[in-house]
Amino acid sequence: MSYLYPTYARYSIRPKEGKGSYIITEDGEKYLDYIAGIAVLNLGHRPDNVEEAVINQVKTLWHMSNLFPSDLQERVAKRLTDASHFTRAFFCNSGAEANEAAIKLSRKFTGRSKFITFKQSFHGRTFATMSATGQDKIKKGYGEMLGTFVHIPYNQPEILKDYIDEETAGVIVETVQGEGGILVAKDEFLKEIERLCREKGAMFIVDDVQAGIGRTGKAFSFQNYDVKPDLVTLAKGLGNGLPVGALLGDERFLEVFGPGTHGTTFGGNYIAMASAEEVLKTIFQEDFLKSVAEKGEYLMGRLREVLKDSKEVVEVRGKGLLIGIEINTPVADKIARIHENRLLVLPAGTAVVRILPPLNTTYEEMDEAIEKIRKSFD
Ligand SMILES: Cc1ncc(COP(=O)(O)O)c(C=O)c1O
Repeated sequence: MSYLYPTYARYSIRPKEGKGSYIITEDGEKYLDYIAGIAVLNLGHRPDNVEEAVINQVKTLWHMSNLFPSDLQERVAKRLTDASHFTRAFFCNSGAEANEAAIKLSRKFTGRSKFITFKQSFHGRTFATMSATGQDKIKKGYGEMLGTFVHIPYNQPEILKDYIDEETAGVIVETVQGEGGILVAKDEFLKEIERLCREKGAMFIVDDVQAGIGRTGKAFSFQNYDVKPDLVTLAKGLGNGLPVGALLGDERFLEVFGPGTHGTTFGGNYIAMASAEEVLKTIFQEDFLKSVAEKGEYLMGRLREVLKDSKEVVEVRGKGLLIGIEINTPVADKIARIHENRLLVLPAGTAVVRILPPLNTTYEEMDEAIEKIRKSFD
């Protein structure tokens, strides 16, 4: 019997402790963890520098509320803005909250309420972000959604002009649809969104909750493209396991997000910020980001090689260390088989095995994962 609501169908593996890319279960079994808390543990379990910063912060100050100035928030915001074209940050606790902030800000700034989002997209579980999400299964049973979200096919630049108009407050897009099945945006798709948003006065919003913080080999995933969104949302990897989300924008929004306009009790709390500061010190380095892109190429290349004769495999695709293997057999069975081989991976959509290694995983660990995956396909 469980005392929890069964909102998650949980695996039977019972993690006890974790370090780096590995976890040990209560039964003493060791697993290579390429779920990484669903793209959260970008530096693996308990990275030394982050652990030390968090412990130091726990011994100094936990929480004060956003009624007081915070040098720590300022420093994290500076690191985020220094690495991008943005100049201002709002901190919250999750990806859904970051997207909520983007939706609220865009509605207020433009005075409009219509948003364009994409089929198979995922933006969160709050009412607005669930409405924004382009997947029916997320919405089932919750009644009427917010009526201001229009879901259109992903990666089809030619249809955008029929939807983005003078009534559009914003377009929210993932550069790689994560939950939707590791679908990578085409250059011309994002360029056309940007062009039409500029022309029509709509906000171009990148949801970088899963693909951000170095995961694709760039600090922000849109930096793989020649585009500059008006807003970007972050969470997951930013705190490496401590809950933190962020919305980044610029000076244009100072007034609409002035005192009393939006808020959160816990957002930007000291412990999460201490973690985020160390995460960004490590990840937002040119060499580190380059190594992520190289590892992504290696892992995808080797997977394509070892799986090339498998009749179950449709495609290996992704960007950096956000990788999917599309298969034509039941994905839950394949995941179970890979778990039996002591490698943790998870599904994306209905037909994709999703692989999310910590960004500091080693080549030796990648070879181990490749062998475990090879063994799981006949
Ligand atoms: C692209 C994207 N946006 C938003 C979210 C929601 O984030 P959270 O679960 O932190 O609210 C997720 C979570 O998987 C995501 O992948």
